[in-house]
Amino acid sequence: MAYDRFGRNIHYLRISLTDHCNLRCVYCMPEDMTFRPAAEMLQDEELLLLVRIFASLGIDKIRLTGGEPTVRANIVSLVREISSTSGIRTVTMTTNGILLGKLAKPLKEAGLQRVNISLDTLDPAKFRRLTRWGKFEQVWEGIRAAEEAGLTPIKINAVVVRGYNEKDVVDLAKLTYEHGWQVRFIEMMPFAGATELQQTQVVTTCEMIERIEQALGKLEPVREGELDGEARVFRLPGARGEVGFISTVSMPFCASCTRARLTADGKLRLCLLREKEVDLLAPLRGGASPADLRRLILDGIWQKPWGHGLAEGSVPLNRVMNEIGG
Ligand code: GTP
Ligand code: 5AD
Ligand code: SF4
Repeated sequence: MAYDRFGRNIHYLRISLTDHCNLRCVYCMPEDMTFRPAAEMLQDEELLLLVRIFASLGIDKIRLTGGEPTVRANIVSLVREISSTSGIRTVTMTTNGILLGKLAKPLKEAGLQRVNISLDTLDPAKFRRLTRWGKFEQVWEGIRAAEEAGLTPIKINAVVVRGYNEKDVVDLAKLTYEHGWQVRFIEMMPFAGATELQQTQVVTTCEMIERIEQALGKLEPVREGELDGEARVFRLPGARGEVGFISTVSMPFCASCTRARLTADGKLRLCLLREKEVDLLAPLRGGASPADLRRLILDGIWQKPWGHGLAEGSVPLNRVMNEIGG
């Protein structure tokens, strides 16, 4: 078991498999994003060795993210290897869904259990504007394929950005009448080189709830208002699915954080919104033994920051979102 100095048991590792993406969501990357050279990225064997070490330290849940994890070469065989690693009980993925039409079934067969799919609007024109060129129909087809393949229960992630999709929360919430999905609304977070958008166009959970309740009636707390991961979860009267809110900015959930991150270039990142990282790739390539790597990881986890500092105006400057993995 790996504990931090605040007694949190860190057992959930989010792995960014690549910084590349087949979309350019306005809240995530600039349109002309430059990517890091491939040689600086963890290769398959390096990644799998680290996964075995993390599993030996008590990590039992892995979420594959990016950039977009499905654009990584060999994604299906990587999932197969990771999910058959001793000690790993859950392997899940956060994806934009574009490639799930063809990948959902092979990923499920390789051992992937669930997917969380990003979808910020149901309006194809707005979807194109938010993602810069994405086709809504492809994502919709991806969600259908994920359901058919049994990558369930499905969660839908919508980042809400003023001027782009703040009114769309109502139509997205309505999806839960018909589908047993958890539709989660995410407060936009600021990152390095933060675009003005990330600073000025944040919509708070409070405003989202007001819009949804005005149109659709009272949201009833599910499971007595307990957090599901980082989401506060509700249900609309008569709905099959749930509506969740991830309120990083207005209601931080750092006290119950159980996660660490592995970036695509092999750094252990202890908090999404803090700069502190421990390099694992250089020691790995420099001949460090598994015991050395275990020690580096345990020391890093021990030093995990208590929480983010957004309220004090502290924004992480060393990374943009696609390198850290959301
Ligand atoms: P589940 O296993 O289904 O609970 O997944 P998850 O919610 O942990 O993963 P997902 O990738 O779907 O996360 C949804 C969003 O939550 C991300 O896009 C981030 O915006 C936010 N998020 C995830 N982890 C963290 C975190 O550690 N800190 C903060 N502040 N936000 C996070
Ligand atoms: N703030 C909040 N969430 C973000 N994501 C990407 N950029 C941001 C941001 N600035 C989310 C995506 C996806 C996950 C990988 O990260 O919507 O759900
Ligand atoms: Fe945990 Fe950091 Fe996320 Fe807070 S911001 S929940 S401490 S990873």
